[in-house]
Amino acid sequence: MNASGIVFLNGSFMPVEEARVPVLDRGFIFGDGVYELVPVYSRVPFRIDEHLARLERSLAAARIRDPYSRARWRDIIPQLIAKQAFEDQAVYLQVTRGVARRDHAFPKDAVPTVLVMSNPLLCPPRELVERGAAAVTAADDRWLRCDIKSTSLIGNCLLRQLSVDAGALETILLRDGRLTEASASNVFVVRRGVILSPPKSNLILPGITYDVVIELAQGAGLPLEFRDLSEAELRGADEVWVTSSSKEVLAITSLDGKPVGEGKPGPVFHTMFRLYQEFKQKVMRAGKARQAA
Ligand SMILES: Cc1ncc(COP(=O)(O)O)c(C=O)c1O
Repeated sequence: MNASGIVFLNGSFMPVEEARVPVLDRGFIFGDGVYELVPVYSRVPFRIDEHLARLERSLAAARIRDPYSRARWRDIIPQLIAKQAFEDQAVYLQVTRGVARRDHAFPKDAVPTVLVMSNPLLCPPRELVERGAAAVTAADDRWLRCDIKSTSLIGNCLLRQLSVDAGALETILLRDGRLTEASASNVFVVRRGVILSPPKSNLILPGITYDVVIELAQGAGLPLEFRDLSEAELRGADEVWVTSSSKEVLAITSLDGKPVGEGKPGPVFHTMFRLYQEFKQKVMRAGKARQAA
């Protein structure tokens, strides 16, 4: 079992082995729920308000009542973090529409099921950062509401498995010949020194890491553009990166078995990786100081 230690289920903390959800939970029956992953460094949550804001948007889009106020979520998360044995954590917030007799239509009085759990956060090892990772491409055949962080992840799981089967780290997705994102990350491309990424839309998850990368690029005055990117532009890119809360910023150096650019992490990646690590350290130091105060 991957989940570790103590979890929070519907208002109580308990060992994960004791946590139970009824089989008629709509999360199990329909995948009818949403979730978040908040990365935690040295017990300091990273961008917690941005993650909670996205959770609120996912819940609203899924028409699931938000069971807690922002303040209550902000209170539960540090309590759960403090109960774990490890410092760097991936805190998952999972909310389903609740338990009801099986029927597609929303149950009238269902109470949302809430699970908060923490896994060790495993960032890419140094060797992978230095060498870069392999990715494959696939047609993005998911639904048209990829902006909702839904627990209905079978589309993403099938696509991710294509890269596992090919011995690669990610599956980069193309819809109608345009880059969207990857099975569990956003994608950036660098061409002639310009950082490019598809704009936010219903076709991609608005990544919290994507936003951090954009802020850092803007702060450092790096050229940045949001626009549709063709398959040819992806394949002919000087650099390709994937971003997510667990991968942070990672260079893709091989795509469908062919080298990206020079086949090694490029200069713009090196700059962004450094900026991201410096920013993380700054957030962590500020969080530690707040905790000590
Ligand atoms: C499909 C998809 N896109 C993008 C991301 C990146 O989002 P974030 O940076 O908020 O982790 C994820 C993260 O899990 C994802 O599953």
